[in-house]
Amino acid sequence: MGIEHYIGQARDQFLRKSLTSDEFLDFMRENTLPVNTLMAHYHCAIMEIETKFNVLNKQFSLQYDRNPIESIKARVKSMESILKKVRRKNIPLTLESIEKNIRDIAGVRVICSFQDDIYLLADCLLNQDDITLLEVKDYIKNPKPGGYRSLHLIVEVPIFLQNEKKQMKVEVQLRTIAMDFWASLEHKLRYKKNIPAEEANLLAEELIACAEISSSLDQRMEKIRDRITRATLSSGRQ
Ligand code: GTP
Ligand code: MG
Repeated sequence: MGIEHYIGQARDQFLRKSLTSDEFLDFMRENTLPVNTLMAHYHCAIMEIETKFNVLNKQFSLQYDRNPIESIKARVKSMESILKKVRRKNIPLTLESIEKNIRDIAGVRVICSFQDDIYLLADCLLNQDDITLLEVKDYIKNPKPGGYRSLHLIVEVPIFLQNEKKQMKVEVQLRTIAMDFWASLEHKLRYKKNIPAEEANLLAEELIACAEISSSLDQRMEKIRDRITRATLSSGRQ
């Protein structure tokens, strides 16, 4: 077995030890209720964002007889992943600092059929007066070197509690079906250990090639949709 395997094992053991260290266990013990409350607030923020997208989808289906959204997936980051990120980014281990510094605890992924719907939906969301944009990462216009494409928005959305309005951060990822297909496969490979270095390099190249094919597929499908729309409109006029 290669050296990478042993390095990987040592890293996992180190992380596991760190995550079960007294510091983390104390933090979890002392903060059980506040942690659960905070996670519930992230759940609520996800519901708010999901509803906004569902409303937009409904409106488009009534007005234009089409659904720009294929599906929506959402998740609250697991405590283990949050704590790993705390370690990795050297974030102080307090709830305030976790809330301030980790911006993807609530994540909503919106899958569209067509690339231009991504920008349409992002604009519609960002034009809503209760949404504050904190950051945009456009990996569609500027794909990552490995081939990853998606539009990422970090937004703040208010949730309304009994006596309080609270701003919550949510990471919204908008992708086409093709981008999502690619990202899922790449993500699977990323976490496969034991792939020999040479094969891993070949797979990385193959993924870059597939990302290019998937990008050109998105563009061609969009053109086909436009031609269908034009043809339908002109036959309607006759
Ligand atoms: P994180 O610390 O991982 O959140 O990265 P970041 O803060 O630099 O943000 P970035 O926008 O790069 O990535 C945020 C999220 O996008 C990740 O958690 C993944 O869900 C997704 N993502 C980003 N890059 C890739 C990639 O190359 N492949 C795949 N499959 N997903 C990616
Ligand atoms: Mg992330």
